[in-house]
Amino acid sequence: MAYNLLKGKKGIIFGALNDMSLAWKIAEKCIEEGAEIVLTNTPLSIRMGGVQEFAAKHNIPLIPADATSVEDLTNLVNQSVEHFGGKFDFILHSIGMSLNVRKKKPYDDLDYDFLQKTLDISAISFHKVLQTTKKLDAMNEWGSIVALSYVAAQRTMYEYNDMADAKAVLESIARSFGYIYGRERKIRINTISQSPTLTTAGNGIKGFDSLVDFADRMSPLGNATADECADYCITLFSDLTRKVTMQNLFHDGGFSSMGMSCRAMHQYNKSFENDDNK
Ligand SMILES: NC(=O)c1ccc[n+]([C@@H]2O[C@H](COP(=O)([O-])OP(=O)(O)OC[C@H]3O[C@@H](n4cnc5c(N)ncnc54)[C@H](O)[C@@H]3O)[C@@H](O)[C@H]2O)c1
Repeated sequence: MAYNLLKGKKGIIFGALNDMSLAWKIAEKCIEEGAEIVLTNTPLSIRMGGVQEFAAKHNIPLIPADATSVEDLTNLVNQSVEHFGGKFDFILHSIGMSLNVRKKKPYDDLDYDFLQKTLDISAISFHKVLQTTKKLDAMNEWGSIVALSYVAAQRTMYEYNDMADAKAVLESIARSFGYIYGRERKIRINTISQSPTLTTAGNGIKGFDSLVDFADRMSPLGNATADECADYCITLFSDLTRKVTMQNLFHDGGFSSMGMSCRAMHQYNKSFENDDNK
C-alpha cells in the first residue's frame, strides 16, 4: 500500500544491480511513493545486471558512475540536477565490495591493495558522494541521505572480514559529515544497519546461509527483509523524520540487542545430541 510519502521528491539511487539488490527494492518503493529518481551504477554492473531493463520500464535515467571517481560523481550530480530541473532531495548509497572477501583472503592475511579498494568502494565513496553533492550545492534543504551498513561495524562477525572496517568508517562518515551538512544546509545523513539479506553482495560472504539462519533465530522479530528495508528507507527520505540525523539505525528485528535467544540455543543444543564427548 502506498502513502505518497515521497510525492514531489527527487533523488539518486546508487547500487541497484539486479532484482535481489536492496537498492532495487528501495528504488521500486521510491517510485511507488511518488518520487522521481535517477539510477546509477558502474558501467560493468550496468552491463552485467538487470538495471537497464528496470530503468527502461520506468522511463528513468540511468547514469553510469564509478562511486570512487569524483569526476564521475560530478558528472552524475550535474546531469541529475539538469534532469530534475533543479536540486534534489535524497540519496541512497547502497555500495559494497571487498576483493579480500571475493578472493577468500582471511583477515590475518589481507592483501593491502585489496583493502584500499574495499575502503575506497565501500566507505570513502560515501564521503566522495557527500562532498561532491555539497560542493555543487545540489540538494534542497531538509534533504535526506542514507547509506546501508551492517552490525559488523560494532560487533565482530565471523568471515565479514575487511568489510567490517569499511562499515565502521562508513558510519563514522555519516556522523562527521552529518554535523557539517546539517549545520550548514539542514541536510540529514544516517546509516541503516540491515539484517543479513540474500543478495549478490551478501552471497559473497562464506557461510552466508548459516549467518542468515542464525540471525533469524536470534532476532525476536526475525530478519528484516529487503522489502522491509525499503519501507524503512522511505520513512527516512520522507518529511516524517526531519530531525533524525547522524544515526546508525538498526533495522534487524532486534538482533543487535540480543545475547542469546531460545531459538538459537535450541539449535545449538542439537549439535550436542550425538556428541560422545559431551
Ligand atoms: N545483503 C546483506 O546482507 C546486507 C546487509 C547489510 C548491509 N548491506 C549493504 O547493502 C548495500 C547493498 O548491497 P546488496 O546486498 O544490495 O548487494 P548488491 O551486490 O546487489 O549491491 C552492491 C552494489 O554495489 C555496487 N558497486 C560496487 N562497486 C561500485 C563502485 N565502485 N561504484 C558504484 N557502485 C558500486 C554494485 O554494482 C552493486 O550494485 C551494501 O553496502 C551492503 O554492504 C547488505
